[in-house]
Amino acid sequence: MKKRHWFICCTICTLILLLGFSTIAQAASTQSKINALTTDANTYCQPFADRQTLGTPVQKILYGEPAAYALQYPQTDHAALDESIRHAVRQICNSFAQQTHPADPSERIPNSVLYLSYESYRTENICSISFQETRVTEGSSITFSNWHTYLFDWESGAVLSSSDIFRDSYRQKAADAVILDLTEDPVYGRVLFGDYRTLLAPENGRFDTFALTDDAVIFYFDKYELLPGSYGALRLELSRDVFAGSFLTDEVPALPQETSAESAAPEEPNGPVSEENASETSTRVLSADKPMVALTYDDGPSPTATNAILDVLEEYAVVATFYDVGYRVAQYPEVVAREAALGCEVASHSYDHKDFCQLTAAQIREDVQKTAEAFAKAGVQPTAFRPPYGNTNATVQATIPLPIVTWSVDTMDWKTRNADSILQSIRAEGNLDGKVILMHGIYDATAEATEQLVPELLQQGYQLVTVSELISLRHGETPAAGKLYGYSYFQ
Ligand code: NI
Repeated sequence: MKKRHWFICCTICTLILLLGFSTIAQAASTQSKINALTTDANTYCQPFADRQTLGTPVQKILYGEPAAYALQYPQTDHAALDESIRHAVRQICNSFAQQTHPADPSERIPNSVLYLSYESYRTENICSISFQETRVTEGSSITFSNWHTYLFDWESGAVLSSSDIFRDSYRQKAADAVILDLTEDPVYGRVLFGDYRTLLAPENGRFDTFALTDDAVIFYFDKYELLPGSYGALRLELSRDVFAGSFLTDEVPALPQETSAESAAPEEPNGPVSEENASETSTRVLSADKPMVALTYDDGPSPTATNAILDVLEEYAVVATFYDVGYRVAQYPEVVAREAALGCEVASHSYDHKDFCQLTAAQIREDVQKTAEAFAKAGVQPTAFRPPYGNTNATVQATIPLPIVTWSVDTMDWKTRNADSILQSIRAEGNLDGKVILMHGIYDATAEATEQLVPELLQQGYQLVTVSELISLRHGETPAAGKLYGYSYFQ
């Protein structure tokens, strides 16, 4: 269902701009300079024309020494809305003027041009306008392109914010979906800046602005923000389905509310696993001779999906293993505490999912330290490490102070995001005795699959065990730090 369109404000466009600029610089008269700007403004970023679905485009050329503006913005038949749009354009121009012509003459950037184009949408009473600002400076080969995205009320022209449209839960959904798209993209996944998870963390405000269409939510990223400059500015269109349940207009399902109330219940979320829960765990009777399988969930915790999975485990009094990422442990310590309280094995999946084969031993140690601090704050000590992407090498094994665990059955849940496909991939494995099943604790579809999977496995006579239990019961071994427990081990 997910529709994806990447837009790159292409290098060709930049070339046109640069060539256009030299034309301006050499032009003899102001009139010819204005003509040159008009030509550039007409030709640049043509792809926008198809996305100007609200009002009619107005073009304005303001030629001043030493800065110039070539502006394009929509005009509608709504006076209040038009006033808000013009106000937004003035704001963008003012900030450009302040930055290129500050009070200190030595900091001024002479001969700079601001080109402004836009895309616009209307769905019901919500108007979205995303201005793309491109800055060109004479003598510099670097162009900047930034987005300025606004939401307006069609009737009143009032500026709307994300909280007029979405519940808070949409930020986590946006972060998960955008990170997945970027990391799984064969091109962008390789060149993403290392701190992308920090930038895209739900609380960092990066999802506060967006455009809304009848069937999509569009997020915009500036040039140099996530990718090297040669990739230009980015535009990512996600299906509205991704945000189901998060629109203010959606019905609130009763269950997740109960879940969140429940997860808030532990009185000492930072405390150690309570005695009561520990004894509850120890009442599970396991037999080395009976078939056993370990369910594992990576990339969490998520307050919605992980809690839904924990609800199922609690209902059937069974356990699983969670390989949590440190930055999310720091965000949702209460979910991690609940995993431990239910007797599940809680393990590390690194701080922010870097490929450990690309890291030095010092960088790995730094990651281990940061992750350990996040877990310590949640009152839980990770028992094992699962390397992101399952990538490990001699340096990783020599440096990680925990047993290194991968899996033997891959459900591809991150890709299909469909409960039936997840169940199908597990059923297709046949005999699951001794196997470790890889899933991800952040998808609603995975939680949905778990709801069917747990009773199905119990019905088939499997004991659901943690990975450490599997290693000790089936292999008679105590998991050892730095040792790899991988595909062939769990056969
Ligand atoms: Ni992962």
